Amino acid sequence: MAKNFKRHTITAALPYANGPVHIGHLAGVYVPADIYVRYLRSQGRDVAFVCGSDEHGVAITLKARKEGAAPQEIVDKYHSMIKESFEKFGISFDIYSRTSAKIHHETSSEMFKDLFDKGVFEEQVSSQYFDEEAGQFLADRYIVGTCPNCGNENAYGDQCEKCGSSLSPSELINPRSALSGAAPVLKETRHWYLPMQDYENWLRQWILEGHKEWKSNVYGQCKSWLDTGLRPRAMTRDLDWGVAVPLKGAEGKVLYVWFDAPIGYISATREWATAQGKDWEPYWKADDTRLIHFIGKDNIVFHCIIFPSILKAEGSYILPDNVPANEFLNLEGDKISTSRNWAVWLHEYLDELPGKEDVLRYALCANAPETKDNDFTWKDFQARNNNELVAVFGNFINRAVVLTHKYFDGRIPERQELFDIDREAIQKVNDAPGRIAGALENFKFREALNEFMDLARAGNKYLADTEPWKLIKENPDRVNTILNIALQIAGNLAILGEPFLPNTSRKLEKILGSGSEVWSRAGQIDLLPPGHEINKAELLFEKIEDDVIDAQIQKLQHTKEENESSQPDVVTPSKPEIAYDDFIKLDIRIGTILEAEALPKSKKLLKLKVDTGIDQRTILSGIAQHFSPEDILGKQVSVLVNLAPRKMMGIESQGMILMAEDGEGRLRFVLPSEHVDNGSMIS
Ligand code: MF3
Ligand code: ZN
Repeated sequence: MAKNFKRHTITAALPYANGPVHIGHLAGVYVPADIYVRYLRSQGRDVAFVCGSDEHGVAITLKARKEGAAPQEIVDKYHSMIKESFEKFGISFDIYSRTSAKIHHETSSEMFKDLFDKGVFEEQVSSQYFDEEAGQFLADRYIVGTCPNCGNENAYGDQCEKCGSSLSPSELINPRSALSGAAPVLKETRHWYLPMQDYENWLRQWILEGHKEWKSNVYGQCKSWLDTGLRPRAMTRDLDWGVAVPLKGAEGKVLYVWFDAPIGYISATREWATAQGKDWEPYWKADDTRLIHFIGKDNIVFHCIIFPSILKAEGSYILPDNVPANEFLNLEGDKISTSRNWAVWLHEYLDELPGKEDVLRYALCANAPETKDNDFTWKDFQARNNNELVAVFGNFINRAVVLTHKYFDGRIPERQELFDIDREAIQKVNDAPGRIAGALENFKFREALNEFMDLARAGNKYLADTEPWKLIKENPDRVNTILNIALQIAGNLAILGEPFLPNTSRKLEKILGSGSEVWSRAGQIDLLPPGHEINKAELLFEKIEDDVIDAQIQKLQHTKEENESSQPDVVTPSKPEIAYDDFIKLDIRIGTILEAEALPKSKKLLKLKVDTGIDQRTILSGIAQHFSPEDILGKQVSVLVNLAPRKMMGIESQGMILMAEDGEGRLRFVLPSEHVDNGSMIS
């Protein structure tokens, strides 16, 4: 990397505030970003590390609809959960903001206005699907229908989750609205498009020629987008949740979430700088600022192609110098999935394995999906902890510290004559910072961590080979040298390990009584002067027993069973055709529930007295698990009145109440849209 950058702006993808964060987020984006930032800070560099919650877009409105809450309630809930999880894992953002913040609405709306005034956008009227019952335009995700490729009846307008093919709503067979179930109609609407094709040549030059050093997965994806050819992309949407389009005549429209969200990085920087009494602009506009976006692979096109085009169109911003996107992390062989609850949620991990934040950081970095998708398994997690952190790093520190107390009253001894084995160990110390830094600067975090562990391994081996506990009788001078060197290695590990394992480094500094040191001090063997007194040993890591791991595996197993037994979220196919004559045999009337009581012996049935307009009769209805008697008194219902009477629990039921049952087995009454007389016929 060019060494003359004066400051760094480091961004980490803004997570959607529609659910908590899991290990996949941490491994792919936030741990690598945090390691990089801690490393830069340790080098004394000027860094702004910004992030926040992505609170707009259809993902949020869908979740709100599902939970029956307002979008703002949803984002408030998940924003604080996510923020807290990141804090506890030591992700050291300078600011964690959110896109519902006022400053963000201002920043993104100004950016849109600026591009509009510059004449950047193409205005286009197009036909979009509209739900006449719900009275709103439908985002692609809100349209479901049959997949033309695999026949899945519940494919989304943007993607079929069964066969994975990407779709557009017009390809769906029998499209219907996810809001009302109605067949959507096409309706004209006006939007503002970013003419991506106009940026194609420039993007080719900038990325394909100018950034050959980008990771091959990132470079490759950019190349394939550019080779396919870019098309105009709408920067506005018909939606009632988001940043309002700041134009007259654009009521009811908001900015496209992928327009506003990346601008969230800028808004967050402004918010942070203001609070610090700093100028935000150099972090986004000065040529000697290095901008780096940490993201997952599904975000590549937005960060490498669309957002840079926006910045370029505005004209005064710098562009990312690198976008080290990662691949995905799987969990125990399966794709992490929020809807199937197939994840290790960070807030649950923090509860269930308290004090082990660094262990997870370690396991996720050691196994980071840098070049291909990777798998997280609890067994691997256990092995990393027990065989590496405990047996190598922890064991080395503990031995060095305990022996120093035992032989030297906890004071650093003075080095004497050096032998080859000492010189080799010292050489390892001298080389370590450069090796780790070299890997970090190329965004090779696994390699960097491995280099770090190599130094711990070297320390451990040095003690095992020199056996100071045997030499103490015959050759105490040697023990002076050995423990001095061992403790200098320990001091180096505290500095070099800080980006990866911040809590552990703090503990280690405390044991060594050394205070926080900066990166430039690493590589030397005079961190701790002879005579310096260290503190008592304290375990850095503890062994994780099988029962802890088994409990986690069981928990996942349980999720799997639940997923298998739960009703698949599909609509039951229709029954065989019937004749009109069959239909008119049914006598369905509107009635009113006059009385309702639970049956002591039955969990399912309620005993109802219903006025059918013809008579008042007793009907047993299997709704006791869904409604309590007092909730339904006086309700109008639809009753099948000519069903043959049936005896249940010794009571004769004379008819049936019609209920609508959804895919999750929830029941709702089938009601007339307004009050009608009892006895009215349904036909
Ligand atoms: N919320 C998006 C996701 O989780 C990421 C947004 S990154 C930003 O995929 F640049 F838009 F902020
Ligand atoms: Zn399909």
